[in-house]
Amino acid sequence: MAVVVMKKICKTFTLKDMSVKALDNVDLSVEEGEMLAITGASGSGKTTLLNIAGLLDRQDSGELELFGKTVDFSKDSANARIRNKRIGFVFQDYSLMAGENAVFNVMLPLYFSKIPLRKMKKAALAALDKVGFPRSHLKNKVKFLSGGQKQRVAIARALVNDPDLILADEPTGALDSESSKMVMDILKQLNRDGRTVIVITHDPLVAGECAREVRLSDGRVVQSRDV
Ligand SMILES: Nc1ncnc2c1ncn2[C@@H]1O[C@H](COP(=O)(O)OP(=O)(O)O)[C@@H](O)[C@H]1O
Ligand SMILES: [Mg+2]
Repeated sequence: MAVVVMKKICKTFTLKDMSVKALDNVDLSVEEGEMLAITGASGSGKTTLLNIAGLLDRQDSGELELFGKTVDFSKDSANARIRNKRIGFVFQDYSLMAGENAVFNVMLPLYFSKIPLRKMKKAALAALDKVGFPRSHLKNKVKFLSGGQKQRVAIARALVNDPDLILADEPTGALDSESSKMVMDILKQLNRDGRTVIVITHDPLVAGECAREVRLSDGRVVQSRDV
């Protein structure tokens, strides 16, 4: 089954009298269990593509299918449920609450469900264990952690709802090579567990870790590599 299907997706941003075609007739199909890299120069449309795939943004035209169903943009709450329960997001800048600890950050996505606090904590700890976050650092404020540890926390937060699809926008962009490798090892493990993973990257080494690569240029798919 295809997890994400884009059919002739277009998106234009307009600022004052300037308009930019961020995505220009993008066709893309990502199968369940794939690990896909999206590459391309800065400004080529990578983030726009991922945001649309994750229901954080909406295309101007074209069709988006997620988990086998065409997304109906009139159904806000159903779409929010898909976004919260089935998709995990990881960002380059971690997007964590810096003044809170790891457990608090990882529990956040669960506040929207009505499960007891004790269970939330248990799920957060399980997710943090899964990504190899050291138990000795659980109480530390996130702002005092290294970049690699912050990204572990962010991946644990993306995992805590047990998503089918993980969307990572330059997850290694702010990390040194050792931490980048650690992050990719975690993402590959999550993929082996059966999750579909899409990673945006500038780094050829990171792209090389993925089974397939799709390259964008000026909002168009220009190249695809299979391994
Ligand atoms: N919210 C926005 N408002 C205006 N222009 C935007 C916005 N988001 C993206 N763009 C423009 O769309 C193009 C694609 O951006 P983006 O998807 O962020 O590219 P990438 O992630 O590959 O660097 C760029 O020219 C960018 O400036
Ligand atoms: Mg980007």
